[in-house]
Amino acid sequence: VLDYMLVPHRNFNLINGVHTPDEVDQIQNWEIRDSDIFAVTYPKSGTIWMQQILTLIEAKGDVTPNTEHLNAQRVPWIELIGSEKEFNATPSPRLRVTHLQYKFMPLAVRQKRGMVIYVARNPKDVLVSYYHFHKYAAMLETPKDFNDFFEKFMEGKVFGNCWFEHIKTWYANRDNMNFLYITYEEMIKDLRSMVKRMCMFLGKDLTEEQRASVVEHSTFRTMKQNPQANYKTVPDSLLDHNKGTFMRKGTIGDWKNHFTVAQSERFDRVFQEKMRDLPLSFTWD
Ligand code: PPS
Repeated sequence: VLDYMLVPHRNFNLINGVHTPDEVDQIQNWEIRDSDIFAVTYPKSGTIWMQQILTLIEAKGDVTPNTEHLNAQRVPWIELIGSEKEFNATPSPRLRVTHLQYKFMPLAVRQKRGMVIYVARNPKDVLVSYYHFHKYAAMLETPKDFNDFFEKFMEGKVFGNCWFEHIKTWYANRDNMNFLYITYEEMIKDLRSMVKRMCMFLGKDLTEEQRASVVEHSTFRTMKQNPQANYKTVPDSLLDHNKGTFMRKGTIGDWKNHFTVAQSERFDRVFQEKMRDLPLSFTWD
């Protein structure tokens, strides 16, 4: 039985039973190959989407790997218990995702080995998606109501840390890495161009037809229907499918259906204050 207690570790909340501080601290020593690819996200910002896209790019648009294995197996999280052994045993190219803070990453990644794609999403929609996720993810505490979760998110009292800290530290260190910054909203609006941009960054030479196949198999609609991409096969003991759906809405601006005017104004004030030195803009609707 999972205990959903958060384990604070170096200003980052891990999940009891899912991560351990010792293993997370070991990650900085991992041996990195130049072909390693890491998609970095704050939770609910496009992780599963990147798992899908990266495997498809790697397979040059061939959908077979995506129908045979769960996306979390094709592109695992580096922070999960037992990851190091599996990382070392995986042939190149290794595709991985992580929600971790910059400071936990392998030192080699922070010295330009491997490649990093950071996917950011407008934080109001992140908050809403994360709220719904908490209602059916067994390892996370069920929020009393939206307001309760709003407060927790603003204080960073969730798995991971404060959204603002996550994006700030990653972005501030972008020049130390082979780094591509993209947004969830850009992917929603023009997935074709974004797949092309990713291929260029990753040095993957795909034909237009192959890229079209990547796009076709990573739309919200196709992923929602693909049991290897939509988390429907994850047991109820981890994700209670009666209470929620991982592929929930996949839109921009759902925060408007959840935030009160007061919450939105407060959020805007915090955003302006915390993001003052960061030249990043978001699509909010
Ligand atoms: S997690 O738990 O951190 O791994 O979640 P993550 O995968 O980062 O985020 C889940 C949200 O991403 C949406 N999603 C997509 N949107 C558009 N297109 C595609 N293909 C897609 N795949 C996943 C998913 O629906 C969650 O957002 P919400 O707003 O809750 O629908």
